[in-house]
Amino acid sequence: MTERPILEVSGLCVSYGRIEAVRGVDIHVGAGEFVGVIGSNGAGKTSTLRAISGVVKPAAGAVNFDSSDVTGQPSHRMVARGLAMVPEGRMVFSDQSVRDNLVLGAYTRIKTDPRGVDEDIEKTIAMFPRLGERIDQSAGTLSGGEQQMLAIARGLLSRPRLLVIDELSLGLAPKILDMLFPVLIDLNRKGLSILLVEQMASYALSVTHRTYVMENGRVLLEGKSSDLAHDERVLDAYLGRRSHARG
Ligand SMILES: Nc1ncnc2c1ncn2[C@@H]1O[C@H](COP(=O)(O)OP(=O)(O)OP(=O)(O)O)[C@@H](O)[C@H]1O
Ligand SMILES: [Mg+2]
Repeated sequence: MTERPILEVSGLCVSYGRIEAVRGVDIHVGAGEFVGVIGSNGAGKTSTLRAISGVVKPAAGAVNFDSSDVTGQPSHRMVARGLAMVPEGRMVFSDQSVRDNLVLGAYTRIKTDPRGVDEDIEKTIAMFPRLGERIDQSAGTLSGGEQQMLAIARGLLSRPRLLVIDELSLGLAPKILDMLFPVLIDLNRKGLSILLVEQMASYALSVTHRTYVMENGRVLLEGKSSDLAHDERVLDAYLGRRSHARG
């Protein structure tokens, strides 16, 4: 991990009409860092990610990616710059095959330089063998866990430097999560920066370097994940006093 941030968000505000979903959030992700965001329903986690990845325009504040001001840039530009988003609910194209979903993930690259796409598909399949076995099946026939693998693999096909994931665990069984999290840890060890929003705080705190706790559109706490896993406030509010985090 280096000190140079790949992502710097400052004073971020997101509004939907009169609803102020995000109210002055500061978040940064260092190059090579694995950062988590936890918090209750409606805390503003998804809205923060949407503003970072260009799905919504922030009402105020700035987003800096790789030392460039990218505030308000549309999501396809962010993908081309090296930020891939795995959205809440996966959003795979159900009537398209697994392979076509992966090719769509490479869309911004194919336009400029299509080389290496087939090799990258092979690499993601090696990471998620279940996708390889189902490569010609339509994505709608996959289980929830397999769809999440596909959503991650699709994101990787754009060759991102920052992978942003919203609710990895949503609706998935623990045994699937025990397969998915090691893949993320491995990708991070190989240099990919990751920003993970996760309701299952115990998982998030056990895999990430640093974590932000959001409530009511603001960052309530921030710190090393191993410290937060033992913080009284986090134990009470998000871990039900049970921590699985590594010391
Ligand atoms: N498209 C929208 N239109 C209006 N209000 C919205 C919209 N999306 C989110 N909100 C509101 O903004 C606030 C923050 O929502 P957001 O989805 O960002 O929270 P979250 O932390 O991701 O919650 P969850 O844990 O349920 O996914 C909530 O009050 C929510 O009702
Ligand atoms: Mg959300």
